[in-house]
Amino acid sequence: MAIRISRRDFAKVALSSLGLATRRVLIVAALAGMTAPGHAQGLPPDAAQVKARATEAKMTDDERFGLLRNLMVVNFKTRKRDDRVPKDMPQLAGWTQGVPRLGIPDLLFTDASLGITNPSHGRVGPDGKPDSGTALPAGMAMGSSWNVPAARRVGAMLAAEAKQRGFNIHLGGGVTLVREVLGGRNFEYFSEDPLLSGLLGGEVVAGTQANGVMATLKHLSMNNQETNKFRLDARVDPAAHRESDLLAFQIAIERGHPGTLMCGYNKVNGAYNCGNGPLLQDQVKGQLKFPGFIHSDWQAVYGWEFAAHGLDMQSGAQLDEQEWFDEPLRRAVADGKVPRARISDMVRRILYAVYVSGIDKWQGPQGTPDLAQHQALALDLSRQGVVLLKNDKVLPLAPPQKATIAVIGGFGHLGQVLGGGGSSLMEPIGGTTLDVRLGGEGLLARVPNIRLIAPGPVQALQEQFPDATLVYDDGLFPERAALLARRSDVVILNLIRYEGEGYDNPSMALPWGQDALADAVLSVKPGGIVVLQTGSAVSMPWRNKAGAILQAWYQGQAGATAVAEIIAGKTNPSGRLPVTWYESVEQTPRPKIVGAEIAPGSADTMVEYKEGAEVGYRWMAKTGKEPLYPFGHGLTYTRFAYSDFVVKGGDTVRASFTVRNIGDRPGADVPQVYLTDANGETRQRLLGFDRVELKPGESRNVTITADPRLIARFDGKANTWRIGGGSHRIVLGPDAQTVAASANVTLRSRSFGR
Ligand code: BGC
Repeated sequence: MAIRISRRDFAKVALSSLGLATRRVLIVAALAGMTAPGHAQGLPPDAAQVKARATEAKMTDDERFGLLRNLMVVNFKTRKRDDRVPKDMPQLAGWTQGVPRLGIPDLLFTDASLGITNPSHGRVGPDGKPDSGTALPAGMAMGSSWNVPAARRVGAMLAAEAKQRGFNIHLGGGVTLVREVLGGRNFEYFSEDPLLSGLLGGEVVAGTQANGVMATLKHLSMNNQETNKFRLDARVDPAAHRESDLLAFQIAIERGHPGTLMCGYNKVNGAYNCGNGPLLQDQVKGQLKFPGFIHSDWQAVYGWEFAAHGLDMQSGAQLDEQEWFDEPLRRAVADGKVPRARISDMVRRILYAVYVSGIDKWQGPQGTPDLAQHQALALDLSRQGVVLLKNDKVLPLAPPQKATIAVIGGFGHLGQVLGGGGSSLMEPIGGTTLDVRLGGEGLLARVPNIRLIAPGPVQALQEQFPDATLVYDDGLFPERAALLARRSDVVILNLIRYEGEGYDNPSMALPWGQDALADAVLSVKPGGIVVLQTGSAVSMPWRNKAGAILQAWYQGQAGATAVAEIIAGKTNPSGRLPVTWYESVEQTPRPKIVGAEIAPGSADTMVEYKEGAEVGYRWMAKTGKEPLYPFGHGLTYTRFAYSDFVVKGGDTVRASFTVRNIGDRPGADVPQVYLTDANGETRQRLLGFDRVELKPGESRNVTITADPRLIARFDGKANTWRIGGGSHRIVLGPDAQTVAASANVTLRSRSFGR
């Protein structure tokens, strides 16, 4: 069922209800939003704790239990609107009843990984069309920018578009590490590295919460594959878990102070994430001291007992077998199976998050975001998130006068791929140009959905090359595409792959015969340009014949423009791989996705993450393998040189160096500092990086102080981090494999908590 929202009316109400003084405060706060800490709009943490306690004490039991679950407005299973949800509540992921008499707002949860979503087109905007929002580049594309300050701007943008609709909790923040090159949801996650993911996730949260909307980090934890995720046990050494996926969460929590975390579908070491005491109680709330609340993913709760193991809120409660956190939990409390104090704790945690993020200070749609500014941000991010993998002096392209440019494949005449499938998929401003339901098995059959948005490659390239004749071929027949290639001056292959929630990719190949297409075209036109729109690394058996390869990932609404600008040389590429680009799946710890051969949900499966914390480039270092393109790799049209590399040891690593643009055009570099060896043991860790924009001839001094947890090992028995001391090799380079400079430093042996 669709609810009509009139943005103008909401904006009017919001403005007229503000006095002049309030308006000034809001403007100042909005400007400060770029740099303010994560809880700038709410109470300081201590005050929020005190207030949460005081409010909880005044609540009735019905009010308390009302806060412990959220309901889907339209039940995903029955596709019917739930009568318990207020009639004027717009379609969104989840709604929790507030307590008006105590100033506790309703909680309105919206997906927000790539923008503010509109599930099943259930909301209608003022123009009668599905309510739409700014469609950002996917997490992986954002990860490719290595741009930490930009992540904060993304958070602020998401907050503005959520507030416009009156939504006060975001479900973005995918800091799960990419462990499987075949993972269907990789596109939503930032990277394979805890530091990069932690920083970006933390900044998105900080940007959101600085603007008065609560933010989430997800999916806690080890939700690294989609296959059979409802019955999957992820086995990982708890100490290695702390050094990898949990460290990403920890860094993001410390940086962004999210009000809430979402626990994922799978089990970790034998217990479902959302009912996993050792994970939620001992590690996250205990050792990591997370003060907010943990809510479940949608359909991830299997009993009221989950409350006793650390879950504070059941999400999408209608999807589970029972609404466990209502009657069943009330009974368990009455029977003395769950202490009353735990219910108070759950409620206080939710209230703490409300007060600290300040979402009790406003209600209903607020303001009219500057969509032109949001479009500019999306384009800016796309310019930084496209990775130039290979360039045999083909780019930037200088075509002959009146050239014929062939664009082949991927529906490039219609649009570019908007995003991956599933809960993050956007309803973009201006709508889509192609929308294909791919279908599939079971309840998730409704999810696979390939969406394209204009401008596509043909249109965007024509804008950059107005004198050229652009000819499009659908690529369905390699022979026909090769004939066009032969008579064209330039060939641009536009290769795409659908990826999304619910399904992993069966291999690293491109679907629909596109590898054969690329081979046929590049065989007659060696040196052609390839643009990939995929969510993960692909195998590219034709790559030696290509002159240039650009990985565009899924770039949201502005990607084709950014790619065309890069091809034309108007934008200097600066994206860097946030994941390892393996030569083949055989190089990874698990060449096969566990459980791929069974019907989803038909049996229990188990994945042993034997690589522990040695994820991605760390695994390559441990096994001495060379990937096709290393983590951190990305080419540019200028050149950078590093000098004056000085490293100090002691309690942690402090590295400084100078980076200089020695080429002839402005560009951005991402110098990276790694630990590669600890006392003779091969151990690679990204210790720090910076994204530096430099004009030709310009140089910058960079200093990096390593978070000691990146150097240490976690001692699970003593629950402490431990730096073994002795000699450590520190490397400066443009990626995880290239050594530009190195030094050995001595570190002091020590242990430390948290
Ligand atoms: C996804 C979550 C999402 C939720 C609500 C689930 O299917 O796993 O990431 O936030 O749906 O839409």
